[in-house]
Amino acid sequence: MDYKSVIAKNISKVTELSEDQIFKLIEIPPQKDLGDYAFPCFILAKSLHKAPAMISEDLCGNEELTGNGLFTVKNAGPYLNFYIDRSKYASDIISRIKASGDKFGQTEDGKGKTVIIEFSSPNIAKPFHVGHAFTTILGNSLSRIYDRLGYNVIRMNHLGDYGTQFGKLITAYRLWGDKEALDKDPINELLRIYVKFHEEAKKDDSLNDVARENFKKLEEGKPEERELWQKFRDMSLVVFNKLYERMGVSFDNYNGESFYSDRIPAVVEMLKEKNLLVESEGAKVVMLDEYGLPPCIILKSDGTTIYASRDIAAVLYRKETYDFDKNIYVVGTPQALHFKQVFSVLKKAGYDFADDCVHVGFGLVKFKDMVFSTREGNIVLLEDLLNAAVQKTREVIVENAKTRGQQMSEEEIDSIAEKVGIGAVIYTYVRSGREKDIVFSWEEMLNFNGNSAPYLMYTYARIRSIMRKAEEAGIKVSENPEVLGTLTDDDAYSVVSALSGFESDVKKAASSYEPFIISRSLFEIASAFNSFYNNCRILGDDVDVKESSSRLALCEAVGNVLKSGLYLLGIETVERM
Ligand code: ARG
Repeated sequence: MDYKSVIAKNISKVTELSEDQIFKLIEIPPQKDLGDYAFPCFILAKSLHKAPAMISEDLCGNEELTGNGLFTVKNAGPYLNFYIDRSKYASDIISRIKASGDKFGQTEDGKGKTVIIEFSSPNIAKPFHVGHAFTTILGNSLSRIYDRLGYNVIRMNHLGDYGTQFGKLITAYRLWGDKEALDKDPINELLRIYVKFHEEAKKDDSLNDVARENFKKLEEGKPEERELWQKFRDMSLVVFNKLYERMGVSFDNYNGESFYSDRIPAVVEMLKEKNLLVESEGAKVVMLDEYGLPPCIILKSDGTTIYASRDIAAVLYRKETYDFDKNIYVVGTPQALHFKQVFSVLKKAGYDFADDCVHVGFGLVKFKDMVFSTREGNIVLLEDLLNAAVQKTREVIVENAKTRGQQMSEEEIDSIAEKVGIGAVIYTYVRSGREKDIVFSWEEMLNFNGNSAPYLMYTYARIRSIMRKAEEAGIKVSENPEVLGTLTDDDAYSVVSALSGFESDVKKAASSYEPFIISRSLFEIASAFNSFYNNCRILGDDVDVKESSSRLALCEAVGNVLKSGLYLLGIETVERM
């Protein structure tokens, strides 16, 4: 547990406030002489019928607050100020990190609870673009975070593998499909015929009727349409899986929209039974006026189902299959209304677990100094972005190696460039709050001294190099609390204090669905570590062994936490770069 939580817990033992309430009120004083943390007592004045200053004076002597000597507590006016015992602080956090290895932040908070995280969910037969990367990266990170907090995580890929567009694709493939091209580059061929369909349909509207007819056949499960559709789906998944593998992403369940199509009659039946289905312009809808929302369409006038009905069927399936405690949808913000409607229909139908469903939205992806050859609709493909990032990273690594006189084989350079390049892309998606639009710029992404993946990964690699050197020199990492307790100077203390915020940041990232809270924490840790590294010698003839071994322990702790945090963001570390 981090220190703010410890203080909150201790205060909760001696007041009627909850840990959570207290946690939110605890401040970091503006000046060091006022302590490391402060609790303002105003909130207690009413219930205790006392002035805040009196309350802080009374509480100050309470032994419970000192956390077994970890803190000295003083009162100053209405505040209780907590001074951390730097020695204990350092040895405590370093030992705890040591014990959890590269899984620091692990808890059992979620024991016995199931969280479904739906993410990625691309549309088959369509290019995987940089927008899909946003949900993929956010969702992957949230999955790892919830998993670290002890939840049973189910990763779902709700593939867009159904809908009227497949009627169009089937029609187009029969008219203009090129089998060879499809085998070679499926997505591009499917995209080509899809675009052609729209061009031709502008001239000849009857094509749209054929497409509708074909989609209907598909929904009815007619074998020929079904077979073509299956082929498009399988081929698309091969392409998507390559990208997932490259980014270290995996799923437990690939049930796409099609999976739910034969569950829709039951949904319609249920809504009918509950008297929620009304006729509107030939379609069947659920009115949502009381939620201030437009009606949710369940069945179209031609009897075919739509997106929302499949989503309703999907939630019911998820509840039945996984009995989730939380069901999270990582889907772009433009779909916010859709999810509000789906959740409201559930609520109206009396399913209280509608309240456990969360839509986690995110912003748009933009580019600053990058030019890509874009296809239909200015789409930038994730694959193009990853390749470009790896290529650029490779150039920087070769350049850096030259300046430092480092020897690296081509193979090693390739493997490092792949990990760092992909890390740089992933990091850009999780560097800021998810609702903000993100702007890709090579300069920021590949800035080895800024808030970037290469910076964090380089800090990690530097630590690994120090650890290797220490091992060669036969210097051990100290595990002795007394020795660790000597890490009290300002440089070491800044590192220790940055490290101590990590655990609560992991929890905050989970509860707000914001992986950026972890990236921010890592950047703070790495920055504190790099100043420590610049100001304090770790190894060398002029540093005594005790000092080296305590500083090494701090290095190792930082390395472990960086590795733990980068993993939670979806980024792999490298031992050398
Ligand atoms: N396939 C959709 C798209 O690419 C996203 C699906 C979102 N998930 C859902 N359950 N509706 O826009």
